[in-house]
Amino acid sequence: MANNRTFTMLKPDSIENGNIGNIISMITEAGFSIKAMKFTRLSEQQAKEFYAVHSERPFYNELVEYMTSGPIIAAILEKNNAVEDFRTLIGNTDPSLAEKNTIRAKYAESKGRNAVHGSDSDENARIESEFHFSSSEIF
Ligand code: CMP
Repeated sequence: MANNRTFTMLKPDSIENGNIGNIISMITEAGFSIKAMKFTRLSEQQAKEFYAVHSERPFYNELVEYMTSGPIIAAILEKNNAVEDFRTLIGNTDPSLAEKNTIRAKYAESKGRNAVHGSDSDENARIESEFHFSSSEIF
């Protein structure tokens, strides 16, 4: 996969709070195009595997419980410099520290219920995309 793609999830709080449309508009208005997208719900096993890197952190169980609490939207996005530009668009993990007009400043509730995920490297973008999508689902 080219290094101008990133992977995102709209987390359960975004769906619960009715923010799907507003967040997708912010993403496309920022110049990202959607290469794959699905509405789904993570199983406990999938959430544990996806966040395995955090398994020793004190918030791991809470994170898995939250990410399986309702549906999510998973997507692959394309743009020049996608990974870095998307992390700028979403803002700090902690919404109280996120820059104004970022997705998390506008829509996240807390550090845990923080509206969106964005890959932190090209390598993780590829791994995370392949975790959620088969090649026939990517356009
Ligand atoms: P994200 O960066 O998408 O992936 C790791 C997630 O762990 C992060 O979003 C938060 O949802 C969650 N997280 C990070 N730090 C904390 C924390 N201190 N308390 C609860 N959840 C956290």
